[in-house]
Amino acid sequence: MLAKQFIVVSSLLPLISAQETVLGVYIFHRHGDRTTKSYSPTSLTDLGYQQVWQSGDFYRARYVDSTATSPIHGIASNIVKNSQLSVEAPVDNVLQNSAAGFLQGLYPPVGATLGSQTLANGSSVEAPMNGFQLIPVNAVQSASTGANSENSAWLQGQSGCNNAIISSNNYFFSSEYMQKLNSTKSFYQSILPVINGTFTSATDTFKNAYTIYDFIHVSMIHNSSSSIPSDSLLTNETVYQLQTLADNHEFNLAYNSSEPIRAIAGSTLAAQILQQLNSTIVGKSASQVGIQFGAYASFLSFFGLAQLPAVSENFTGIVDYASSMTFELVTNSSVSNSSYPTADEISVRFLFSNGSAAANPLTAYPLFGQSSTVIPWTTFVSEMNKFAIGDQATWCSQCGNSTGVCATSTSTSTSSSPSATASGSSSSGGGGISKAVAGVIGAMVTLAVILGLEALIMLIAGLRLVSKKRLGGTGAAAVAPGAVKE
Ligand SMILES: *[C@@H]1O[C@H](CO)[C@@H](O)[C@H](O)[C@H]1NC(C)=O
Ligand SMILES: *[C@@H]1O[C@H](CO)[C@@H](O)[C@H](O)[C@H]1NC(C)=O
Ligand SMILES: *[C@@H]1O[C@H](CO)[C@@H](O)[C@H](O)[C@H]1NC(C)=O
Ligand SMILES: *[C@@H]1O[C@H](CO)[C@@H](O)[C@H](O)[C@H]1NC(C)=O
Ligand SMILES: *[C@@H]1O[C@H](CO)[C@@H](O)[C@H](O)[C@H]1NC(C)=O
Ligand SMILES: *[C@@H]1O[C@H](CO)[C@@H](O)[C@H](O)[C@H]1NC(C)=O
Ligand SMILES: *[C@@H]1O[C@H](CO)[C@@H](O)[C@H](O)[C@H]1NC(C)=O
Ligand SMILES: *[C@@H]1O[C@H](CO)[C@@H](O)[C@H](O)[C@H]1NC(C)=O
Ligand SMILES: *[C@@H]1O[C@H](CO)[C@@H](O)[C@H](O)[C@H]1NC(C)=O
Ligand SMILES: *[C@@H]1O[C@H](CO)[C@@H](O)[C@H](O)[C@H]1NC(C)=O
Ligand SMILES: *[C@@H]1O[C@H](CO)[C@@H](O)[C@H](O)[C@H]1NC(C)=O
Ligand SMILES: *[C@@H]1O[C@H](CO)[C@@H](O)[C@H](O)[C@H]1NC(C)=O
Repeated sequence: MLAKQFIVVSSLLPLISAQETVLGVYIFHRHGDRTTKSYSPTSLTDLGYQQVWQSGDFYRARYVDSTATSPIHGIASNIVKNSQLSVEAPVDNVLQNSAAGFLQGLYPPVGATLGSQTLANGSSVEAPMNGFQLIPVNAVQSASTGANSENSAWLQGQSGCNNAIISSNNYFFSSEYMQKLNSTKSFYQSILPVINGTFTSATDTFKNAYTIYDFIHVSMIHNSSSSIPSDSLLTNETVYQLQTLADNHEFNLAYNSSEPIRAIAGSTLAAQILQQLNSTIVGKSASQVGIQFGAYASFLSFFGLAQLPAVSENFTGIVDYASSMTFELVTNSSVSNSSYPTADEISVRFLFSNGSAAANPLTAYPLFGQSSTVIPWTTFVSEMNKFAIGDQATWCSQCGNSTGVCATSTSTSTSSSPSATASGSSSSGGGGISKAVAGVIGAMVTLAVILGLEALIMLIAGLRLVSKKRLGGTGAAAVAPGAVKE
């Protein structure tokens, strides 16, 4: 009985996949294996290069190659057509190099035959390195100027979004955080002998959960165990605990259902995905592949916004190196040069691979609490638009920014700053911090300073208001240049 059913199902499979056409894709990708964040500059390792290259090779076999399993409509198979591709990464060595490595897998060297051109005088010229193909990787274009960098321990500061920075920083004042900080104190101290070359007793706490995990994780991949002091302390259980504590820490910094602005990275990514997929449809698959390299925090923010943690708690964990999430534009209508499906005949399928897609299954998951893994384009658009932030004005008002690039976009700032506690207490630092960890703490101190400054500006502005009143109108010209429009 079962066997019979299996045969029926499996004989249908080729038919089903033959019906469906992929019109375009958007791939968001994490970098490959890299050196630790504890010692700057962080760089992509050879292992990481392998991981992203293999992922590119996997996607080539799925979408691009002449024998691809799900070929993208109209895609060039061997010699890249740069107009069909839009590749972006933040200005960051690890992410830019990961993108370049991935592209070498997606469009490998074509050899002497394809990779040569004939000149006017009849002589033939071959591209260097066996027909190596040049594919530009652009700096991420986002609503703000900020982009995540692998050189910073926590990535939110780079978003430049004031309210998001405040919201993430508020995590450090939540009772959930305080409890974890307290309850894991002795656990962290127990592993100090492993990391005391880099961390001190004062910095070896849950506060640095990610940097500690990152340092140990990287060491376990690259350092021989005999070179790791007290490495017997790193039992599977201990490492697992370090990892899940880091997961908890980072997910909470990236997403809070009560404060959606915290997930700004996911919101701007959502807008970029929509924009690229829409331009694929509008252009009838003339530009059909969007690829962006970015940080794990953007995955976590997006997962939270797209309600993926309800599908599996796995989506609250930091994704592995070289992970990718893919949005396929698919249709069952016929597609040819003369007929292209209308928007209501097009659907979106979401897939995720935890680690290099070459070694980890690319699996479809349902988004937005829906039951199906394939949802109509129109539904996808309306669900994404519930949290997507794509234009400058919206970004500025949601972020509560009113200076810099936001100076011109009206006087919206209602300062939803929820941080009475945050600006009140500042991080104390403490003596004897190692240089590496000082960077991590430095980032937090900067936040505290920004918050403090804000309070100061408000204070000064308030005082000025009072004194202007007292001066009775004569002080109008006395508004200082730094005084922030209200
Ligand atoms: C043809 O033109 C190229 C580029 O100007 C030059 O390098 C090459 O020597 C020429 N070949 C011949 C046979 O003239
Ligand atoms: C937004 O405001 C924050 C805090 O004032 C500032 O650090 C950041 O640079 C601003 N972002 C932009 C894009 O102007
Ligand atoms: C999430 O946001 C709520 C509402 O602002 C806050 O009370 C809570 O502490 C936050 N939780 C975390 C883990 O940041
Ligand atoms: C921290 O935990 C200890 C017991 O482990 C408890 O006595 C103390 O009250 C806790 N402190 C806070 C601030 O929760
Ligand atoms: C780290 O701790 C071990 C064991 O307690 C000690 O032998 C070593 O000297 C410490 N290293 C540093 C750099 O403090
Ligand atoms: C691993 O090796 C690096 C580079 O040699 C070193 O900085 C780091 O401290 C080592 N990690 C551990 C846990 O000993
Ligand atoms: C620890 O994990 C590794 C790899 O996952 C496994 O090979 C090893 O047997 C585990 N050790 C113990 C003591 O469970
Ligand atoms: C798609 O692009 C077209 C043309 O630029 C625009 O009119 C339309 O609103 C866009 N649709 C979505 C869902 O972004
Ligand atoms: C979650 O992760 C576990 C362990 O890797 C795996 O067995 C499980 O299938 C995953 N769940 C989903 C829904 O992907
Ligand atoms: C990916 O793998 C890591 C473990 O390496 C896990 O913590 C995380 O939950 C996984 N994520 C998903 C979505 O499966
Ligand atoms: C195409 O049809 C098959 C079989 O009915 C279905 O499984 C698949 O989801 C459809 N794809 C789209 C994009 O509607
Ligand atoms: C479709 O268009 C492409 C490029 O414009 C062309 O190479 C191809 O021959 C056309 N196919 C058909 C069936 O007309």
